[in-house]
Amino acid sequence: MTAQIIDGKAFAAGLRERVGTVAADFEAKAGRKAGLAVVLVGEDPASQVYVRNKGKQTLACGMESFEHKLPADTSEADLLAVVEKLNADPAVDGILVQLPLPSHMNEQKVIAAINPDKDVDGFHVVNVGRLSTGLPGFVPCTPLGCVMLLKDQLGSLSGLDAVVVGRSNIVGKPMAQLLIAESCTVTVAHSRTQDLPEVVRRADIVVAAVGRPEMVKGEWIKPGATVIDVGINRVAGAEEGKTRLVGDVDFASASEVAGAITPVPGGVGPMTIAVLLRNTIVAAHRNAGIALDESTI
Ligand code: GUN
Repeated sequence: MTAQIIDGKAFAAGLRERVGTVAADFEAKAGRKAGLAVVLVGEDPASQVYVRNKGKQTLACGMESFEHKLPADTSEADLLAVVEKLNADPAVDGILVQLPLPSHMNEQKVIAAINPDKDVDGFHVVNVGRLSTGLPGFVPCTPLGCVMLLKDQLGSLSGLDAVVVGRSNIVGKPMAQLLIAESCTVTVAHSRTQDLPEVVRRADIVVAAVGRPEMVKGEWIKPGATVIDVGINRVAGAEEGKTRLVGDVDFASASEVAGAITPVPGGVGPMTIAVLLRNTIVAAHRNAGIALDESTI
């Protein structure tokens, strides 16, 4: 069997278009654009690329982008003061502090300082609690993007066996919560799981988010399963000095067995920023008290 390829790039483009339409409507009703503030501390090259792309896509969707670039030696107190200012700024609907932060900062303390109603990353403990209890809040962008792709591919997920490989706060844990909310039977596996291939083989849905290049092999996959690969790993390419991106799934073997699979690049990756923009326009409506049918985006 050769798997169907799940085109996250195309889905993300459609989502950004829907966000753009809703953002124009928000501007007409609120008399201002929705606004997203992104805070970057230091010069991590990957983070700089993410932040630049976020800024560009925010503007392209008809929203305001506020970028705060702080030097790597910024004190935690100064960063907390920036967050406080953004919390109080009525032009800012969403706040994202780019992670990782420099090692002299306490990430949990900084995330806790963000107003949960502007926490479009969904990292604040209040939003983590809202997700686990089924209350409306904000859900981390990457796992929400994965569920959107799964529902687009499969329709209802009810009753399906899902295995999430990885237990991070950003992907694995919220992914499990979202799949429980979709009535899946969920197993969270990780690096210490015994007989991981056998656990993965039970799954109708496999979500790989471990950060290990090409770890999940085709022989681990149940024939016809849907495979979502969250990994983005840069490895040495065939030619000397060249690199290439691979996921956490061995695409060549897995795509021979799976029913559908996300590629890397072009699968889950483009969804993260598109969902961030979706969360921002949702935040803008909630915070301005303007009605929005959130199920349409
Ligand atoms: N660093 C890598 N991914 C993310 C993300 O989704 N949000 C934030 N804030 N930082 C990140």
